Amino acid sequence: MKRIAIFASGSGSNFQAIVDAKKKGELAADICLLVCDKPNAYAIERARNENIPTFVVQVKDYPKKEDYEFAILTQLRDYEVDFIVLAGYMRLIGPTLLKEFEGKIINIHPSLLPAFPGKDAIGQALAAKVKVSGVTVHYVDAGMDTGPIIAQRAINISESDTRESLQTKIHEIEHELYPSVIEQLLTKSGEVI
Ligand code: GRF
Repeated sequence: MKRIAIFASGSGSNFQAIVDAKKKGELAADICLLVCDKPNAYAIERARNENIPTFVVQVKDYPKKEDYEFAILTQLRDYEVDFIVLAGYMRLIGPTLLKEFEGKIINIHPSLLPAFPGKDAIGQALAAKVKVSGVTVHYVDAGMDTGPIIAQRAINISESDTRESLQTKIHEIEHELYPSVIEQLLTKSGEVI
């Protein structure tokens, strides 16, 4: 069974969805580590409740990105991680991690990329008054939300939608889509529809 590490910076609802999929037998992967860059993130509590080890990386304790990424890499090696799943991790992945995990890092983003990359994709979509937005799962490269797209789901935005309602719709889709994409990538042909 492939060993995955999940990286998160916030609430960790996608982390939870992946763990729940595993518990329901819908995901054949060993979730062996949470990597978190925010000591107060709720994702850490979720990991504790699930008995999943957490590596909290205090970025400010390291002089350079290369240094904190090397600290993460050391943990990934110790846990014999095969695959990295970014789930609300708010940092760009640098060359230290990209080199060792080339083609083995994925991310989920709350828009139909290449539209609205970067921060606050939901706010960007609302400000642009688009009628359709969505969710994208993609491979991670050195850019900001630029790697090859693996799967997308569209969501209609209505006049009455608010940031909260759109966020709720996006989370619902994410929680179903992300575990199933991970399962496809790790255990099936790699073909994701
Ligand atoms: C998700 O909407 C994801 O698309 C984005 O960050 C959010 C993380 O939410 N990258 P959560 O921490 O998993 O609840």
